[in-house]
Amino acid sequence: MHHRRRFMLDVMASVLSSAPLAAHAAAVPTYDEAARATWRHTDKSLTEKSALQRELVHYATLAPSSHNTQCWKFKLEPQSITIVADLARRCPVVDPDDHHLYASLGCAAENLVQAAAANGLRGDVRFDLAGQGAVRVELDAAPAMRSPLFEAIPQRQCTRGEYDGKPVSVEDLKRLEKAGMGNGVRVLLFTDRPKLDGVLEYVVQGNTAQVNDRTFVDELKAWIRFSESEVLDRRDGLYARSSGNPTLPRWLGSRVFNLVFTAKAENKKYVKQMRSTAGVAVFVSETNDKAHWVEAGRCYERFALQAAALGIRNAFLNQPVEVAALRPQFASFLGIGVQRPDLIVRFGRGPALPPSLRRPVEAVLV
Ligand SMILES: Cc1cc2nc3c(=O)[nH]c(=O)nc-3n(C[C@H](O)[C@H](O)[C@H](O)COP(=O)(O)O)c2cc1C
Repeated sequence: MHHRRRFMLDVMASVLSSAPLAAHAAAVPTYDEAARATWRHTDKSLTEKSALQRELVHYATLAPSSHNTQCWKFKLEPQSITIVADLARRCPVVDPDDHHLYASLGCAAENLVQAAAANGLRGDVRFDLAGQGAVRVELDAAPAMRSPLFEAIPQRQCTRGEYDGKPVSVEDLKRLEKAGMGNGVRVLLFTDRPKLDGVLEYVVQGNTAQVNDRTFVDELKAWIRFSESEVLDRRDGLYARSSGNPTLPRWLGSRVFNLVFTAKAENKKYVKQMRSTAGVAVFVSETNDKAHWVEAGRCYERFALQAAALGIRNAFLNQPVEVAALRPQFASFLGIGVQRPDLIVRFGRGPALPPSLRRPVEAVLV
């Protein structure tokens, strides 16, 4: 049965990839062109304030976000940029308390701070509790500093493929740990097999619960971009090729997804991925509130940028922290008492996958 499904998928992919894409008229960029225009450094020095601020927002949007919802809006002010949640882009099923949404804002804030420093601005990040809460980045003049983390922004991606199974050196682990520590948030690194197998058991339990939940699957599907034209049109969501899958028109991709997206197939994939993994990082908040979720996002983003700078890839395995009933059990497996495990990440070396896209700066300004 599994082979029949795989065969169907391969046949459909090859038929479709050989068909001429008439819809792509000259003015529409190809996916490769859009990806190149997205994942780039600034090619000129920017002195005019509003142009510089827009470029800082571009860097911020290169941050990861849950399901690539890009759940952020940016408010430009003379001495600051405020990042507010775009609640229209919430994921109420997988993220009912908006934990991932605020962690995503933290990831964007960290990119903004790194890019500001490279452009002679020191960014001071505060969580503003008023209203739904916002992340305010005050910008003050400072000597320009292009850090290795800043240099790595266009290289970073969440790489959902298999890694090479080789360990990461002790020096590199130390660098990752240092990058991932924050204010009221710490990172725990695991590299021993029995512990990784223990994490995998929780991933499998969480994944089984999620895949068997119709509402979870429907929400996930709504964020999948099955075809190149769909991803070029929307510039958000989970592009099929970025997860190592073939592109298909939505009507067909959606049907194939229903056939192949099973708990058994997904769990098998996670077992293989975990076997190829050098280690797992878990980010833990001291206090379970929005300010700490933002801080957890900042810590994760520094970790991911440091990893990219060292040629190390990473991908999330968040099922044990997303399934609320599993989270306390996972916390006691980690031995962290009542503290909240925020994010779970595997890391190792391996090939890149096609990058996801981003919406343009104009679309995310308030
Ligand atoms: C808070 C947060 C939670 C995430 N959870 C998952 C997850 O559970 N599984 C996964 O494969 N990716 C997860 N992602 C990764 C996003 O899907 C990814 O960042 C997005 O698709 C954009 O891709 P990029 O990071 O490669 O640019 C998460 C990202 C963030 C910021």
